[in-house]
Amino acid sequence: MKTNEEKFYGQHLVHMEHVKDKAMIIAKFAAEFSGAKSSRIVSRIKTADSMEKKIIADGLPVNHHSALIEEGDAIGVRIITDTISDVYKISEKLDSITDFGERTQCRILDVKDYIINPKESGYRSLHIIMGITSDDKDFPEMKVEFQIRTSIMDCWASLEHLAKYKQVIDLTPEVEDMLDTYQHAAEREIQSLSA
Ligand code: GTP
Ligand code: MG
Repeated sequence: MKTNEEKFYGQHLVHMEHVKDKAMIIAKFAAEFSGAKSSRIVSRIKTADSMEKKIIADGLPVNHHSALIEEGDAIGVRIITDTISDVYKISEKLDSITDFGERTQCRILDVKDYIINPKESGYRSLHIIMGITSDDKDFPEMKVEFQIRTSIMDCWASLEHLAKYKQVIDLTPEVEDMLDTYQHAAEREIQSLSA
C-alpha cells in the first residue's frame, strides 16, 4: 500500500528524502562548527494533507511544481539551540556552506528574521530557505526551509501549533497562560541580547 506522501509527491519523494538527508548533514555540520554550545536537529517532509491544504490556501494549482517550487517548506529542518547568539552563529555557518561533496551545491535563496521582526501571532524564529542540488531531473534544485530558534521560542511555537493549528489540545485559559509565559521569556531573551 502506498502512503499518502508516496501518492502525492509521486516519483519525487525519493529525491526529496535524499535532499532532506543532505540538509540534515549540512545542519549538523553548521551546528557543530558554529561554536554553539548545544543543539537539537529534526527534519521532516511536509505531509500530503498539510501541503495540499497550503497550496489551496495560497490559490495555487495542486501539482508538484506548486509543492516543490512555489512552496518553500516541503522539506524542513529545525535547529533548536540555547541562546539567540547561538542561533545567529549557526545561521552564519549555514550561510558559508556553498557545496556538499562534488555534486551538491547549496545556496541561500531567502532569509526571514522573525526574531528581530516577530510575526503578528508572536511567532519567533530565523528562517533560511536553501536551494540544494537534487538528482531529480524535473527539480534539479530543491528548496529546504531551515528554522533556527531557541528552546523557549520552540516551546511557544510547538504549543501554539498544537493548540491553534492542529487543535489536538484545547486552547484553555491555562494553555493561554502558558503561551504568555513563554512569550515573556522570549522577550526577556531578546532584551538581554541588546542589554
Ligand atoms: P507559510 O507561512 O508557511 O505559508 O509560508 P511563508 O512563506 O509565509 O513562510 P513563513 O516564513 O511565514 O512561515 C513558514 C513556517 O513557519 C510555517 O510553515 C510554520 O512552520 C512556521 N510559522 C509561521 N508562522 C507561525 C505561527 O504563527 N505559529 C507557529 N507555530 N508557526 C509558524
Ligand atoms: Mg506565512
